[in-house]
Amino acid sequence: MSTLAVYPGSFDPLTNGHVDIIARGARLFDRIVVAILVNAEKHPLFSLPERVDIAREVFKGHSNVEVDTFEGLLVDYMERRKAQVVVRGLRAISDFEFEFQMALMNRRLNETIETVFMMPDAQYTYISSRLIKEVFSLGGTIEGLVPELVLARLHDKKARV
Ligand code: PNS
Repeated sequence: MSTLAVYPGSFDPLTNGHVDIIARGARLFDRIVVAILVNAEKHPLFSLPERVDIAREVFKGHSNVEVDTFEGLLVDYMERRKAQVVVRGLRAISDFEFEFQMALMNRRLNETIETVFMMPDAQYTYISSRLIKEVFSLGGTIEGLVPELVLARLHDKKARV
């Protein structure tokens, strides 16, 4: 039986930490779906279509990486997709508590679904989408922390305001 993994998140924006986890997941599982949550935030920096477009472009060379969106409970989406594994990244101990709660709540909702935690490369352990947005908006450099495409799109947005 082939294993379908789902990597859910807001991805606003996609960072190199996310890219690292997706690449690891793509090596470990037969197929991995990057599942972007609809309406995670009321005012995201990147719209849902923009986030989908970025992730598809970044992973266009990876035949076993798919980009999709989902609404509602993750476990319901997993069931619809007949996916067995939720992939989440763990950067530091501070991530653990929330991730532990989500994993156990998801297990309570559907005990057949397993959550697998993966550590990104050490160079990405301190980055988050929130910090990327903050540093960029205040004029700091984020080169090397996000895909080139994300950097270009961030500059486009800044030029338009
Ligand atoms: O990128 P994020 O914000 O850390 O991702 C959080 C996400 C999307 C994985 C989580 O909010 C989620 O799964 N939301 C869907 C609704 C749901 O299933 N909630 C119960 C989780 S236990």
